Order: sequence, then structure tokens, then C-alpha cells
Amino acid sequence: MKKNITILPGDGVGPEVTAQAVKALEAIGTRFRRQFQIRYADFGAVAIDRHGNPAPQDTLDACLAADAVLLGAVGDPKYDNNPDAPVRPEQGLLRLRKTLEVFANIRPVRTFRPLLNKTPFKPEVLKGVEMLIYRELTGGAYFGAKERSDDNSWASDECRYSNGEISRIAQLAFEAARQRRRRLTLVDKANVLETSRLWRRVVTHLSLEYPDVEVDYMFVDNAAMQLILQPARFDVILTENMFGDILSDEASVLSGSIGMLPSASIGASHALFEPIHGSYPQAAGRNIANPCGAILSVAMMLDYFDMAEEARLVTQAVEWALQSGLQTKDLSPDFYYSTSEVGDLIRDYILERSADTELSVYNTALGQSTII
Ligand code: IPM
Ligand code: MG
Repeated sequence: MKKNITILPGDGVGPEVTAQAVKALEAIGTRFRRQFQIRYADFGAVAIDRHGNPAPQDTLDACLAADAVLLGAVGDPKYDNNPDAPVRPEQGLLRLRKTLEVFANIRPVRTFRPLLNKTPFKPEVLKGVEMLIYRELTGGAYFGAKERSDDNSWASDECRYSNGEISRIAQLAFEAARQRRRRLTLVDKANVLETSRLWRRVVTHLSLEYPDVEVDYMFVDNAAMQLILQPARFDVILTENMFGDILSDEASVLSGSIGMLPSASIGASHALFEPIHGSYPQAAGRNIANPCGAILSVAMMLDYFDMAEEARLVTQAVEWALQSGLQTKDLSPDFYYSTSEVGDLIRDYILERSADTELSVYNTALGQSTII
């Protein structure tokens, strides 16, 4: 069956990394005879420049009509340091998440063997790191009432959660834990925040339906510390929107580069896939950004389509690239491959991989290296 995919390249390095993700997707289509119908739409700061709106209605409609959406990144420094900007690219992202009702943001954090010595951690700390962060995505302070007084003397962001908003993502997190090491950690600030106490109540109640899953509760400040002290202790982390935003950036360091991490945002009837790295404006247009987070987001999309074998091959292709030293500048600052070279080689691997072609793709890769 044909899958319709809307691509939002967005800002900064977004267009460069999504172009590599599309190469991987098209290679999967060719190799497995799958039909992917791709269309593009404007989103983020580029959409503000062209239409005065970071998420134009046409774009939202194209996303609502798609089987899945792939997003590059949003954000532009010209808006970051201007507290009075009337419209910002990030508003578009929040509107998109809300429009699609993708309430569960799933961020897998794992290590990659070839990158174990590329992180600031001792390799023994990284042994066995394999966690899933379930971040609530359409509630909390991100979406609460916002106010600023006319004289700029105060401002407020309301943080509100309902039982239903908590239990629908908690259910997904419990189900995921059940398929894994059966451990769920709720991260909150229940010693201070009323919303956190509600999260505990709902999760405790729901845990009765999942007696096989061990639940523990951790305050977010302690979780920030445990994530780097004993990261392997975590299996599924469940948390609210803002804590999840912060902790997932922190956790990405465990994998070797934030450029490696994909994410899926899932709702009842829509799904959005995006690397977590953001627009990385300093690298925009330089062909140096790491496309792996975007390519692994395609793997998550294929899994969502129940194309497990296809998803596995994409993941394997990324692992092969890392293992073969086909790494971008973030991972290998002195000797690196460009974004598009890594994308091409991963595409070739997907198209050609079999016991004997593996070697030929690898040789091609070596031939392209600047050392030879
Ligand atoms: C993320 C990003 C976004 C967020 C920004 C760009 C609004 O940091 O997806 O993690 O805070 O959710
Ligand atoms: Mg973030």
C-alpha cells in the first residue's frame, strides 16, 4: 500500500539532513518495492519569510492528510534574542504538534559501539545504555496560558495537566516497558508541583494494570544527575513536556552526539518524525551536519508503518557507516565525511547490501575519503 509522506525540511540544517533521510527512504522503496509518495511543504522560519506564518494552513493540511510527517528542524537565531518578535518559528512547531495531536514524543537513547570513545563519559558508564524517553508533548507549560504585563514587570506560563492527558501517554509508556526490560521511571517534581502529584496519582493507579512492570519515581533534579552517573539503570522514562525536553538533550550526550538521535511523536491518528538536534544554524548550508538522527527517524517511521525489516536495514546501515568511519564533523572533527557523502553511502548500503556487496560499498566509501 502506498504511504503518503509530507516532508517539512524547515530551517538551518533541516533541508540538508532531510535530503539524506529521503535518500534512505527512497532506497527502501526500491529495495522492498514499497511506494512512498513524498510531498514538501514550507515550515518554520522559512515559512515566516515566505508566508508570514511558521505553520501555514496549507502545510498543516498537507500534514493532516499524510500517513506520516518528517520534519528537519525549526529555529533561526534572528528570532532567538528578540523577546518582542511577534511571531516565532517554534510557535509553528507547537501548532503542528497540537494540530496533529501527537501527544507522545518518543526519544530512544542508546550508545553506538564505534562512538564509545567519542563521549565525555568513561566507556564503562555507557555499558548497557538503552533507554526510551516518553515525553508528553501537547500539554504543560508549553501550552498553558501565557501572560506578560503591559509594563513588562511580570510574566507567567501556566502549567496544567488533566488525568486524561497523563494516562494516555502513561499507557503507551507502560506498553513499551512491557516489551523491554519492564521498568518504568516517572520523572517529576512531586515534592513541589501539584501537576507532578497528579502525574504520580495517575501513574500509580495505572500501574495496577501492569503488575509485570516495575515502577519507580524520581525527582527531576535527581534524574538529571542519575542520567549521567548511572544511565544504564533506566529503561523507560516517562515525564511531562518541559522536563522531557531538557532531559532528552542531556541524555543525547550519552550516544556521542545529539546529531545521532531520532524521535517519533505519536497520537491517535497522526505521527511526526524528527531528529532532536534542532536547526544548528552555525552549520547551515555547510554540508557538515550529521544526518544520522534524521535517517534514524526514517527507521522509526518505518517501524510505525509496521515495516520492521525495512526499519532494521536502515538502522543497520547507520551502524555500518559509523563502524566504517563514515562520520560527520561532530563525531570526527579532524577527518570527516560530508552530510551528503554519508547520506549517499547509507543509501548505497541500503540498495546493495548483501554479504559480498558490503565490501564493495565500503571500498567506494574509502575511495571517497579525503585521506586517499
Ligand atoms: C525539541 C525542541 C523544541 C521543544 C523547540 C524547538 C520548540 O527543543 O523538540 O526538543 O522545546 O520541544
Ligand atoms: Mg529540545
